[in-house]
Amino acid sequence: MNVLVVGGAGYIGSHTAKQLSRAGHTVTVLDNLSTGHEWAVKWGLLERVDLANQQQIERVLEAHNIEAVIHFAGSAYVGESMQKPAHYFNNNVTNSLNLLEAMHITGVRNIVFSSSCTTYGIPTQVPIAEDAPQNPISPYGESKFMVEKMLHWFHECHGIKWVALRYFNASGADPEGEIGEQHDPETHLIPLVIGAALGKRPPIQVFGTDYPTPNGTAIRDYIHVNDLASVHIKALEYLFNDGTPAAFNLGTGMGHSVLEVIKMVEKVSGKKVPHVLSNRRAGDPAILISNPNAAKTSLQWKPIFASLEIIVKTALEREYQSQESVLVN
Ligand code: WQD
Repeated sequence: MNVLVVGGAGYIGSHTAKQLSRAGHTVTVLDNLSTGHEWAVKWGLLERVDLANQQQIERVLEAHNIEAVIHFAGSAYVGESMQKPAHYFNNNVTNSLNLLEAMHITGVRNIVFSSSCTTYGIPTQVPIAEDAPQNPISPYGESKFMVEKMLHWFHECHGIKWVALRYFNASGADPEGEIGEQHDPETHLIPLVIGAALGKRPPIQVFGTDYPTPNGTAIRDYIHVNDLASVHIKALEYLFNDGTPAAFNLGTGMGHSVLEVIKMVEKVSGKKVPHVLSNRRAGDPAILISNPNAAKTSLQWKPIFASLEIIVKTALEREYQSQESVLVN
């Protein structure tokens, strides 16, 4: 299949491009490289295009005879979205609208969209299933929720088929060490803890020690980036087998606290993680854990890197490999 990976130079997009290519699909990456990395585009041609430019999107869809789109592109910092809501609505909503309209005009009928557990806001119960109320508490979460609604209407009005994948906490790295997580600025827990362990970043701040959890620190459902990548391929198969448009939660169904993550990094790296106990970060729910059963059943998907130890190991190995390549170069 000819697949357009929008945002394929980014963290989850590049891991998915690799798996798509391994599975025999022809990958084209559309990315403006605003946050993605050119070095991460190794499994398909790069079309350096901004989603603000609908005509360019149409050109790419036609030039590569695209049959399906996987849409990862967007801004993804909850905190930043509180400072710059217009940027989030523009980049995540307006630009996704351009993509959908370009698909409609060029007759591309299938899309898999990166949505988010942040569309649920503060959950009323955990684990969270897909029918839980969606009440986002940030412009980021709202922007993803708005795109889900647009998908619904583009299906109703134009017959575009969709799957929305609501990610929990993406983490880990390519077990072959070719690609990994590299955000600027980095705000995610696991790379920051690894950086602290290796002395490359300051001591990690533990945001909140008074949550209603066994050790007082917040709990998240960390899912390996390769397991996220594989489910996108399953979602494409689902669409091409006439699956009904639907949203699926993507997590492991298991939760780990911030202190457990720190302990795991200490175990895997053999190094102490310097950390300071600190106040809660605004807007952080105490516990976010998915119920991933719908994805497992409907998409016939199974996470295979589903332990925190493997997640931390692959992230750490990638960190060591990129250090080596810096030394060699
Ligand atoms: C994890 C935990 C922090 C940094 C992210 C994305 C969001 C969504 C889910 C898809 C929290 C704590 C963190 C630090 C800490 N994914 N922490 N010290 O906020 O759960 O959400 O994944 O859309 O887009 O932002 O991830 O890695 O920032 O935090 O104590 O220095 O670690 O408070 O409990 P988060 P995170």
